[in-house]
Amino acid sequence: MNFDKPITIALSKGRIFKQSLPLLAHAGIVPADDPETSRKLILDTNHEQVKLVIIRATDVPTYVEYGTADLGVAGKDVLLEHGGEGLYEPVDLKIARCRMMTAGYPDAVKRSGRLTVATKYVKSAQQFFAAKGEQVEIIKLYGSMELAPIVGLADLIVDLVESGNTLKANGLVPLEHISDISSRLVVNKASWKMKHGLVMQLIDAFREAVEQHPS
Ligand code: PRP
Repeated sequence: MNFDKPITIALSKGRIFKQSLPLLAHAGIVPADDPETSRKLILDTNHEQVKLVIIRATDVPTYVEYGTADLGVAGKDVLLEHGGEGLYEPVDLKIARCRMMTAGYPDAVKRSGRLTVATKYVKSAQQFFAAKGEQVEIIKLYGSMELAPIVGLADLIVDLVESGNTLKANGLVPLEHISDISSRLVVNKASWKMKHGLVMQLIDAFREAVEQHPS
């Protein structure tokens, strides 16, 4: 690809970064550093015009919305909470796949009265229980949700489940499926217009990579 305009791509460290590498490579982009070992927040690549910004997963939609990054890779869980304003979401990258579930002790939902639900996915949880016509009290947490039922902070949690090992290790079980989650390519709306040719080439390369290497 010919990168005739500067392009910034927002990524988060860890699983999303690792699983994005083959997709980036398919677009001819190779980072100059590994964010696991480098403390740099802006990574150069093999193309002078292409930079990667390494930020927290929950900040990716914000950087792309404000145009600080032209493109980004963000989990659907994060996008549902962000709301998706100012973004296009053209490609399901089918990486970092898991499920958003309710979870708790096996008898959690049998308790009488209004249930309390601890989660960092407040919007998703609100929508899920509202659609079921259930009134619940939602408690916002920022991590380690599994602890909440154990210490009696909440009856249920809404969290991501991949292998189920974290729940199991804490004596909890997955209960209800809310949505399937995977990472999406997101694009700033202004970049979509102003850098259309380049953005479309990148979208096509990512799409092709997903089709050729289904995970
Ligand atoms: C996620 C999620 C669970 C765990 C589930 O946390 O919040 O705690 O993974 O994975 P499993 O079903 O394979 O055990 P993550 O490690 O992403 O960290 P986080 O708490 O910062 O979200």
